Amino acid sequence: MKIVNLDGFTTNPGDLSWENINQLGEYTVYDRTNKEQIIERAKGAEVLVINKTVIDRNLLDALSPELKLIALQSTGYNVVDCAYAKSLGITVSNIPSYSTDAVAQLVFAFILQITNKVSLHSEAVRNGEWCSCPDFCFWKSPLTELSGKTIGIIGFGAIGRKVAEISEAFGIKVLAYSPRPKEKGSLKTIEFVSLDELLSSSDIITCHCPLTADTEKMINKENISKMKKSAVFINTSRGPVVDEQALADALNKGLIAAAGLDVLETEPAKENNPLLKAKNCYITPHIAWAAQETRQRLLNILEDNIRAYINGKPQNVVN
Ligand code: NAI
Repeated sequence: MKIVNLDGFTTNPGDLSWENINQLGEYTVYDRTNKEQIIERAKGAEVLVINKTVIDRNLLDALSPELKLIALQSTGYNVVDCAYAKSLGITVSNIPSYSTDAVAQLVFAFILQITNKVSLHSEAVRNGEWCSCPDFCFWKSPLTELSGKTIGIIGFGAIGRKVAEISEAFGIKVLAYSPRPKEKGSLKTIEFVSLDELLSSSDIITCHCPLTADTEKMINKENISKMKKSAVFINTSRGPVVDEQALADALNKGLIAAAGLDVLETEPAKENNPLLKAKNCYITPHIAWAAQETRQRLLNILEDNIRAYINGKPQNVVN
């Protein structure tokens, strides 16, 4: 059985082992694949492993009927036309919940960067500003306490729930917006509210919904205008959930206070993306999932997904 990985590098840049997948079939890994190379590399594969390579209808037609499983190396599955794949008898599997803790951790890295400005102060000390300071301490921007603030979580799945748990440990009150009813579990302060109420009442707003037709450009000019002027907006879900020009305008005009983004509409970032130079905008290059422990967990689930397909009982099927 031919197994082809078109996007191997980001999952395993060399610090993990492909050995277990090697044992499952004739496995070829490409670090990265451009659009023109897809058919030549993937033709004849029964299992296609991808991360961000877009597999549209034309490609599905071209790779059918040999292709039987598209095994994603990600939670999000918007890069594949899943419904059309299903109509061709191609199963699509994803990697659910492997990065829940890591993504929630990055949400707080952004929040703490914005409230405490660790890098700004550390740089100031390194530049000698503490040595020349007349007082025992100084700060270069207002500092904010998290306790007593309100966080609004859009999309209350695995990551949203983890962010809620950590928030409560900080003494932050939790609001959540979910199109489907959700259990409160052990959370003490959580209240499920409308999107409008969440946007207008939260000090921090964080997106943890999938990218769908409903969520695309959900954070647009109109919805940003409902946020507090002091609001901090965080997005670690998918870039297109945000209207990037509208967010950049809001930051530059001081309509909201700051943003922390791990994802952009186009990745890698385009030089003319208005958010790259927007005021108080902190951007990381899609790293929430990238801790070594997290990628190892991803690899283990990927192996299990391929093995489950071989055993006739595919798992983590999303179509
Ligand atoms: P999940 O499937 O457990 O939770 C998503 C939640 O969003 C579900 O509860 C669903 O009901 C809700 N939802 C669906 N449509 C919605 C809408 N219109 N409005 C509000 N909520 C809606 O997924 P999980 O594991 O929590 O991941 C969330 C997203 O985070 C993924 O879809 C993925 O795009 C992104 N992600 C980003 C990573 C990164 O490296 N930056 C890593 C892993 C996931």
